[in-house]
Amino acid sequence: MEYRENSLNYEDYCALRKSVDWLLFADVQMQRAVDNSLYTITAVEDDRTVGMGRMIGDGMYFLIADIVVCPEFQKRGIGTNIINMLLKYVEDNTPAGGRSSIQLIAEKGKEPFYEKLGFKLIPHEFCGSGMRKVIRK
Ligand SMILES: CC(C)(COP(=O)(O)OP(=O)(O)OC[C@H]1O[C@@H](n2cnc3c(N)ncnc32)[C@H](O)[C@@H]1OP(=O)(O)O)[C@@H](O)C(=O)NCCC(=O)NCCS
Repeated sequence: MEYRENSLNYEDYCALRKSVDWLLFADVQMQRAVDNSLYTITAVEDDRTVGMGRMIGDGMYFLIADIVVCPEFQKRGIGTNIINMLLKYVEDNTPAGGRSSIQLIAEKGKEPFYEKLGFKLIPHEFCGSGMRKVIRK
C-alpha cells in the first residue's frame, strides 16, 4: 500500500464516497472542497485509490473530513494510517509554545475507531456538545 500526500482528485473523491454509500454534494462543491483541502492523504494499491482523508483548517483549528476506506480494504489498518498521517501534519505545523485543536464528527458507531487514535468524546468536563447546522438549497 502506498500513501500519497496532496494527490486526492475529484474522481477518486466521488468514487470513495460512493463506495461507502455516502451522499454526494453538488459537483462544484466537491471540486472546490478537494482543491481547498489543506492536506490530503490517499491510500493507493495497484494504481487504485482505496482510501482517503482530508484536513481542513486555518493553522489553529483543524477539521478532519472524509475519512473513507473502501469496504473490501477495511480492517487492515489503512484508516489508522491515514489518521496518523493527518495528525502528523498538524503536529509538524504547530509551532513551539502553540496548540492546535483537531475536530471531527464521527459517524454513528465509529466513535471507537477515533477513540483508539486519541480523540475524546464531547461533551466532557471541559467542552459542551459539538453542534452543526446544515443549509440545503
Ligand atoms: C471507519 C473506517 C475509516 C475505518 O478504517 P479501517 O481501515 O477499516 O480501520 P482500521 O483497520 O485502521 O481499524 C483501526 C481500529 O478501529 C477499529 N474499527 C474500525 N472500524 C470500526 C467500526 N466501524 N466500529 C468500531 N471500531 C472500528 C478496528 O477494529 C481497529 O481496532 P483494532 O486495531 O483494535 O483492531 C472505515 O471503516 C470506513 O471507511 N468506513 C466507512 C466510512 C466511515 O464511516 N468513515 C468514518 C467517518 S466518521
